[in-house]
Amino acid sequence: MTLKEEISCLLDTCWAGREIVYEERTGSTNDRAGELARRGALEGTLVIADAQDAGRGRRGRIWISPPGAGLFMSVILRPDTEPSRISMVTLAAAMAVREGIRKASGLETLIKWPNDIVAHGKKICGILTEMHMEKGAAAYVVTGIGVNVNAETFPAALSERASSVYLETGRKVSRAEIAAAVCGELEDVYEIFRRTWDLSELRDQYNNWLVSRGRRVRVLASKGSWEGEAEGIDRMGRLLVRRTDGKLERVVSGEVSVRGVYGYV
Ligand code: BTN
Repeated sequence: MTLKEEISCLLDTCWAGREIVYEERTGSTNDRAGELARRGALEGTLVIADAQDAGRGRRGRIWISPPGAGLFMSVILRPDTEPSRISMVTLAAAMAVREGIRKASGLETLIKWPNDIVAHGKKICGILTEMHMEKGAAAYVVTGIGVNVNAETFPAALSERASSVYLETGRKVSRAEIAAAVCGELEDVYEIFRRTWDLSELRDQYNNWLVSRGRRVRVLASKGSWEGEAEGIDRMGRLLVRRTDGKLERVVSGEVSVRGVYGYV
């Protein structure tokens, strides 16, 4: 069976992943999903590739995407809300991926705000959500998900901070199972999100999974860095960080980067 057939057989959703576009190789599944969205592809369309030649990460980084071991997928969403709320899609997606990985592999992970998935302090998944505007509104959103599924090694420069589901569980896991489970969770989480277009109904669960909750973090902003204790997210997905002088700051994703004081998380 092909990866696409396997995912189709496992899917138990109404709209997420009901249309699947599979590419053996593509530049970036986010770009491919964007092209399809512009041509009218349905909400929930899943684009998945065995390998990417130009996989992208956040902040202009490269997402190394060789064939075989990784899951490279993007889902088209059509949120009917203001552009300022779209950054929350990515936090909702992180919750879906966290649960999808757990259901498919048994691996318990946490979320590094806003949307990295970490296991035992190492990143196993990244999410890149891109919004496309038309006439001041979000025409469509592409949520791209890259999971290190069965990678056995990482380059020396990455191995301190990156891992895979295989390295953390000792078991090879089917990419199709993770993809199908993530689609199922994404459908559930997104339907909760779109009831209010904020995270008021998801925030408590997100905070339970937040790796830095109650820990000291360093906030790296363009005007310099500062430290405080992370308390959780608010209903708009901002990270609440208590400064040493007691002042509570609301940190907006995209504007800053947050690190653990003692390491990556
Ligand atoms: C990050 O942590 O920097 C985000 C990484 C997102 C990678 C995925 S892989 C599938 C999709 N296509 C891309 O080009 N990027 C995302």
